Amino acid sequence: MRTIQIMDTTLRDGEQSPGASMNIDEKVVIARQLARLGVDVIEAGFAYSSKGDFEAVKTVAGEVEGPVICSLARAREADIKSAWKALQEAPKRRIHVFHSTSDIHLKYQFRISPQEALKRSAEMVQLAKSFVDDVEFSAMDATRTDIDYLCDVMTAVIKAGATTVNVPDTVGYALPWEFEKINHAIKTKVSGIEKTTISMHCHNDLGLAVANSLAAVQSGAGQVECTINGIGERAGNCSMEEVVMALRTRKDFFQADTDINAGEFVRASRLVTKITGIPVQPNKAIVGANAFAHEAGIHTDGLLKERSTYEIITPESVGFSKMKLVLGKHSGRHAFKTRLQELGYELAEKDLEKAFVRFKELADRKKDIFDEDIEALISDEVFTSDYEVYRLEALDVSSGLDKKPEALVRISTPEGIREKTSTGDGPVDAAYRAIALITGTCSKLLKFEVKGITGGTDALGEVVAMVEQDEETVRGHGADTDIIVAAAKAYISALNKLASKKL
Ligand code: KIV
Ligand code: ZN
Repeated sequence: MRTIQIMDTTLRDGEQSPGASMNIDEKVVIARQLARLGVDVIEAGFAYSSKGDFEAVKTVAGEVEGPVICSLARAREADIKSAWKALQEAPKRRIHVFHSTSDIHLKYQFRISPQEALKRSAEMVQLAKSFVDDVEFSAMDATRTDIDYLCDVMTAVIKAGATTVNVPDTVGYALPWEFEKINHAIKTKVSGIEKTTISMHCHNDLGLAVANSLAAVQSGAGQVECTINGIGERAGNCSMEEVVMALRTRKDFFQADTDINAGEFVRASRLVTKITGIPVQPNKAIVGANAFAHEAGIHTDGLLKERSTYEIITPESVGFSKMKLVLGKHSGRHAFKTRLQELGYELAEKDLEKAFVRFKELADRKKDIFDEDIEALISDEVFTSDYEVYRLEALDVSSGLDKKPEALVRISTPEGIREKTSTGDGPVDAAYRAIALITGTCSKLLKFEVKGITGGTDALGEVVAMVEQDEETVRGHGADTDIIVAAAKAYISALNKLASKKL
């Protein structure tokens, strides 16, 4: 039985999904969850690409224990040095160097010869190797690259010190049947390959990323690169939960498994959805809301008699459990903190205090508090707290049948407390107009989503507002039992995020 390494790239390729940019706190929370999942490698970002990415890689490297922490770097000296600097504090670190190898890319985008690309790749891998032992090389657009040339590049980078060679299906073009040929060529023509891990990085443009990754494992790949919920550039990347569960469920066929703790998948999926604002379709395999919902009478009949009649994976094995009633009105700070830790949140003292105050307010209004309620409060308080330029102090809304909706909003701003009243097409519109008047924002609201958490009329309402200004898109998050208050908080949280981008 082989153990396949899982390299997660949710924080790098996943962040390349449109509108999915995450701040450092959000990345650290996801990275901690990835560590709980037991991934082998976390690609925490592309250190050279921006100050924010550098800081994110550095923070994850310093704070998240367990997996190897990796930074992406183009085959350029400045990129590799930046990756190395950001990774200093990681006990286990990897530099991931990439260069295109396909004729299409070399001719039209880089305008260099294949020989030049090979030389540059090998030199830059050698530079990375002078900093770290663990170096991965990716031949971008490998699946559209001449196979003999791909093997030459791999031979050169292995000689220069690469310990993993990655075969990205960058544009999601390959078919499962082609991996047998690609991997056979790599295994027979690349010298030094026997001591190097072959990795696969598949995009989902034809909906084949998981199938292609499995085919690659079947023909010899020892590492799969993937993301939670399959988020990523364009149609996304190979979905971690799907590829891992396919291997586990059919290990009789693959003779391979991973070290992933699958019971953490649902929590990881919900966390990534909450932070990125990218929802999971209900029929998504493994983590979708309907993944274990049986409708047909014949199925439920069979299930009641013997689960294995219609269930190949148990919902519990991937982390679905009955919503847990956790805390109530009388729960104290210690119980709250302990539950947060069990959910994977390590909060700084000031954030914990704020979250506890919110929890107590909620417990006064809502009888039963579930894990999902606590997670909503946390995203509301913690992921935005460092960037608080504006804070909602009061909101008074009047609306009804045959009545023009009106909202009075009071906000604390750097210039002091400001208050405005506005009418609108509905109560949320009125509140948003008043907020815009106070803050003077010229941003545009791109998306507004409302969701009830945990059911019941006293449920917490969760609102995500996607806002754009000066080509920056941010998502604000708000949760409250009053849906208009949640909407106002979401808008203000988005404006705080936009303000923080200007710091
Ligand atoms: O899709 C791709 O080619 C990549 C590389 C940088 C590995 O993401
Ligand atoms: Zn990619």
